[in-house]
This record gives sequence, structure tokens and C-alpha cells, in this order.
Amino acid sequence: MPTSPPVYESTLFTTVAAMQAEADAARAAGRRLALVPTLGALHAGHLALVREARDRVGPGGHVTVSIFVNPTQFGPGEDFEAYPRTLDADRDALDETGTVDAVFVPTVEAMYPFGLPPFATVAVRDLDRHLCGAHRPGHFAGVTTVVARLFLACRPHLAVFGQKDAQQLAILRRMTADLGFGIELVGHPIVREADGLALSSRNAYLSAQERAQAVVLSQALRAAQAAVARGERDPAVLARAMEAQVATAPLARVQYVEVVDAETLQPVEALSEGGPSGGRYLAALAVFFGATRLIDNVTLRVGEQA
Ligand code: PAF
Repeated sequence: MPTSPPVYESTLFTTVAAMQAEADAARAAGRRLALVPTLGALHAGHLALVREARDRVGPGGHVTVSIFVNPTQFGPGEDFEAYPRTLDADRDALDETGTVDAVFVPTVEAMYPFGLPPFATVAVRDLDRHLCGAHRPGHFAGVTTVVARLFLACRPHLAVFGQKDAQQLAILRRMTADLGFGIELVGHPIVREADGLALSSRNAYLSAQERAQAVVLSQALRAAQAAVARGERDPAVLARAMEAQVATAPLARVQYVEVVDAETLQPVEALSEGGPSGGRYLAALAVFFGATRLIDNVTLRVGEQA
């Protein structure tokens, strides 16, 4: 008879010292530690990251999910105050997966004990010049700073992030490699609704009409993929095709549509097999519906990787 996998009940940690003690004890017991950093307001996309974390560390491993609405990654006029805070529902959802050992929910004071803005920050240069970085000054420095802090608090062997925030993942990979954290970063594929809309906590802000029209983001990305499959290699033509698709939604307002090298995140003259990422490009866009900003992306492959 096959044995059923163990069911984990999570313990709540709210201070860095308590979280570190938990992580140190798990390490001392020879367990492999995984971290899933989140802002909370968990949806099925987050739970897929959590399951991936458990699969990666196995039944004897240790999975921590952090829930922290990080003030330093929100710019003036962004939705820091309004960001949904649903801790009880988040914990229920995590416990239902039966895969989580620890939930780390620090206060702002615990994460930034010397006040805000912090004196010491972590930043990755250049990779934030385009895409979201061009429109959200300081955002990625806020992300890298808090993730470095979470790594030090939770001491994982690996951390799982969603590919939906592709620029964030590329920047965090760079930070982790350059600073020698020795942590494996795992990118989990985008989880989508049946009509193609990428799951996001911000989808909850959309009216019914906006929600129906938000499908244009994934449609635009599919249009770019189809054009590449037909042989199109001009990023400007691909961007125009995506913009045209978004324009079919009357409530949509494009913030950016870009095609960049998947690793350097810099624009290219033409898609080719020989670029820095060996033929991998990122088509990405940010679109407003009212005050709600949605992002999505897809990898474009040319040459042998296609
Ligand atoms: O992607 C997110 O939810 C956040 O940017 C992260 C990685 C948890 C850092 O606050």
C-alpha cells in the first residue's frame, strides 16, 4: 500500500530572531529549507509556488512562506495602504495545502529596525532600466533589499518565485549570484485563469467589465509568439502587434510593451539565435485598467530553443 505524504501544520513566526532559530534548528537536523516569499493575499498561483517548494525539498524538508507587505517596494501614489491584507485566510489556505512548516509574518519594525528608509540597501544595477523598472523608480531596490533580509532571516537552501514577475526574478538571480548567497532560485511558470489572465492579487481590484477585457494581455503575448513562429524577428513589429491587440480592449491603457533579451533585460535590434541569452527573449507588458496595473510576460525563443 502506498503511504500518503505527511501533512504539515504551519507555525507562525513574527520576529527575525525566532525565524532564524527555527531555520537553524531545521538545518542542524539536516533538513533542506525552502522559502516562498510573498506579499500575502494568497491565490492559487502562490499555492502552486508553495507546492513546488515542498516537491523540491521533499517530505523531510522544511518550507517557510513569508507574508510581508514591504513598504520599500511601493512608490508614492502606489497601493501600499490599500494592498489586501488577509492573514487569516492566507494561513487557512497554506494549512489546507498541508505542505508548510513555518509562516513568517514580520512587522515593518522587525524588518526595518532602524527605521525607513533603511540606511543600507541592496541594489542591482542596469537590469531595472527597462520594463517595470523604468516606470517604478526604486521598486526593485526595495525588492532586493527585502529579499536579502528574508534570506538572512529564513536561511533557505532554495527560494521559489513566480515567473510572472520575470524582471524581479532576473534581478534576484543576479543579486543571489553576485553576492554569493548560495541559494538556488526556482522560477515557477505563470499560473493562468481558463481565459489566459495571469493570476495576481491585484485582479481582485478589477470590475466585471475590466476583468473581461483583461484577457487582452495574454492575447497580446500569444500574438507575439505566433508572429515569431511565422519568422518575425523585429522587436518593434512585435511590440506593435501586441499594442494592436491591447487596443481591442476599450478600458485598457498601455504603460509599456517591450521585447528584451531574457537575461540582460536590454532591448535588441533583432531577435536572433546568438544573443546573450542564446535566442531567449522576453515579451512583457504592463496595462492599466482604471487604477489597476496588470503585468504579464512570455518567453520568445528563436533558433534551436524554439
Ligand atoms: O513578488 C512579490 O510578492 C514580492 O515582490 C516579494 C518577492 C515577496 C518581495 O516583497
